[in-house]
Amino acid sequence: MTKVFQDDVLSGKVAFITGGGSGICKGITEKLMAHGAKAVITSRKQERLDAACAELIEKTGSECLGVACDVRDPATVEAALSAGLDRFGNIDIVINGAAGNFLCPAAQLSYNGFRTVMEIDSLGTYNVCKAAFDKCLGEHGGTIINISATLHYAATPLQIHASAAKAAVDAITRTLAVEWGRLGIRVNGIAPGPIENTEGMSKLAPGDVMEKLSKLVPIGRAGRIDEIADVALFLCTPAASLIHGHTVVADGGEWMAHSSFAMMMG
Ligand code: COA
Ligand code: NAP
Repeated sequence: MTKVFQDDVLSGKVAFITGGGSGICKGITEKLMAHGAKAVITSRKQERLDAACAELIEKTGSECLGVACDVRDPATVEAALSAGLDRFGNIDIVINGAAGNFLCPAAQLSYNGFRTVMEIDSLGTYNVCKAAFDKCLGEHGGTIINISATLHYAATPLQIHASAAKAAVDAITRTLAVEWGRLGIRVNGIAPGPIENTEGMSKLAPGDVMEKLSKLVPIGRAGRIDEIADVALFLCTPAASLIHGHTVVADGGEWMAHSSFAMMMG
């Protein structure tokens, strides 16, 4: 793990991370814990959370609580936040990473398939922001980071559901930044490009697609979980105090290199 900030830069802070039991958001959780934060991680599967908690505590020496919830269900989100508040007394950082995606042509996608991804990514992000505002952030401020993607900057075939869902996530980020900034709540997003060794990429870039895709990235490779975790850590620190309502693209230049002209010249 790279370390460019002081080890205790998040000392005294508590982070609530949806999707924190796997992939990118487990990496973000580890990074925040390694810099002094305590963490509450959530997803639907308690066993996955229990295993992740044990690993994260072992690796960082900090504290971690795993609470199952479904971000589509506000009651379970509120219960998870309450469990975190009961255990740690406060929640300062909220990271919305829970998401679902798969490859499917729009013509073959079912109504429920589209709705499911919208509900997990967009509605889920809103539910967690709103519940966290009501339970803690509205009283004392804090930091929200919504994990987005670059899918919707141009057009990404076979991912109409996730593209629409992440566009809504970006709208939530901007709107909450304007509405909640004066209350001391800093709201930002991160849009990762293709990140190696993740569930996302194993589903979306199967076989040798990831290798081919990596070669098209202007920096010549896919991203690493640790690199997205560094962006999240930065956004949580006072070094990012003026960054607000912005979705930071961390993709090695991937999305902007995919115009027809760029592809021909690259
Ligand atoms: N292709 C087309 N449609 C699919 C699909 C696929 N690969 N996978 C699921 N769907 C459809 C289902 O058919 C269903 O629609 P239907 O009722 O009309 O048949 C709908 O999506 C919901 O599926 P279900 O399995 O009931 O939803 P779920 O809430 O249990 O799971 C998913 C949500 C589908 C997003 C699942 O992939 C998931 O849990 N993902 C989390 C992990 C993940 O995707 N990580 C990558 C993040 S980038
Ligand atoms: P991942 O490990 O599959 O993360 C998704 C997480 O969401 C899982 O922990 C899953 O756990 C949880 N989840 C799914 N549905 C949920 C629900 N209804 N309620 C609560 N939790 C739920 O995937 P990843 O690839 O690391 O992706 C993490 C984030 O980065 C996502 O927001 C994704 O869109 C974004 N992203 C990833 C990439 C990439 O290259 N991988 C690129 C761009 C953006 P359970 O199954 O236990 O619920």
